[in-house]
Amino acid sequence: MYTYLNVLHSYWAYFTLFILVVAVLNAVVGISSNKQYTMAKDLRIGLFALIFSHIQLVLGLILYFVSPRFSAWEAGGVMGDSLLRLLLVEHPFVNIIAIALITIGWSKHKKEETSKGKFMKIAVFYGIGLVLILSRIPYDIWFS
Ligand code: HEM
Repeated sequence: MYTYLNVLHSYWAYFTLFILVVAVLNAVVGISSNKQYTMAKDLRIGLFALIFSHIQLVLGLILYFVSPRFSAWEAGGVMGDSLLRLLLVEHPFVNIIAIALITIGWSKHKKEETSKGKFMKIAVFYGIGLVLILSRIPYDIWFS
């Protein structure tokens, strides 16, 4: 169970990051070129990014409790070990905040009435979420 979930969470991260980057860039281009917000393209990109992030969140939450690293809470020393602190504290905590921001951005963008307002909400909230996620990825174990 742990191995499959870890592999899934690890690969799903590529899709999630890719679609988040696309959503942020699409919103920035929308603002800078004064584009009309469309349901067919812009809404779908934002929605896909939201769904992919939420799936990653659920996978991460389950992984957290099935990971053998979780037992380090009982053994102690989590905060004193930089890898354990990253995996068991910083990465989950910061990513939950990031995905909450993305979700808030999604719901705020729906209430906006102008195209610029919609793109702005996505650019800011998804953008901050993306930066937070990128700041706490365990790159060393991801690429090893
Ligand atoms: C968009 C959000 C997230 C991204 C992009 C992401 C990405 C990653 C990546 C790339 C790894 C390394 C996997 C590997 O070993 O190859 C990882 C590990 C991990 N993630 Fe996430 N993650 C996210 C959210 C979360 C959340 C919300 C939690 C928990 C609440 C979580 C829990 C974990 C745990 C526990 C590990 C370490 C598993 C282990 O090696 O035992 N992740 N994550």
